[in-house]
Amino acid sequence: MDYKIAASILNADFLRLGAELDAVVPLVEEIHLDVMDGLFVDNMSFGAPVVAGIRAAHPSAVIDTHLMISTPHKFWRDFVAIGSNIVTFHYEATDHAYALLRQLREAGVQAGISVTPATDVRLLEPIRESIDRVLVMTVEPGFGGQAFEPQMLRKIETARRLFGDRVDIEVDGGINRQTIKKVKAAGANVFVVGSFIFDAEDRAARVAQLREVL
Ligand code: DX5
Ligand code: ZN
Repeated sequence: MDYKIAASILNADFLRLGAELDAVVPLVEEIHLDVMDGLFVDNMSFGAPVVAGIRAAHPSAVIDTHLMISTPHKFWRDFVAIGSNIVTFHYEATDHAYALLRQLREAGVQAGISVTPATDVRLLEPIRESIDRVLVMTVEPGFGGQAFEPQMLRKIETARRLFGDRVDIEVDGGINRQTIKKVKAAGANVFVVGSFIFDAEDRAARVAQLREVL
């Protein structure tokens, strides 16, 4: 299994974002960018211009764009155009998940779909061939620094069983040195980590602690 750490910059120092990224990009497999519209979730973060700037500064970084927005069908093209490698939208945000997944693949990016804690991952079964990545939210989306929800472990197991090894099973929310063991054992292989990395002075030491577990 290919294990990947994706650093979420939501808890980075936005005034020093360039330096924050320079320090973290070499340490991780992916940069996870949380786009929030204040409608789908109770928070706003940043949009396409910020993602474009990050892409320009780090041409070969793998950019995983997590759209926590209520109108993904209106905006996904912007995030493809500026060079996301993976675009993940929420199942709950559209009645046309299948169409959107197909459009993403046709546009040349990996097609990701996310489920909030209350959504049954088995709803994705009918369209599983169209999915490259399933993002199982392990907190209610909207904010960094929340506690991991252990009820999601069963959902991760179900997702891995349903999708087999072809699909990335990604987890997001409350991942740290302790919880990464549990989600890995349940079948996840992509680990989004925000505050556990950015709340520490020594980011490299924090990533090394996670690597030890993986
Ligand atoms: C939450 C976001 C996450 C968040 C993770 O809605 O999708 O990516 O930044 O942060 P931590 O690791 O602090 O839970
Ligand atoms: Zn996220």
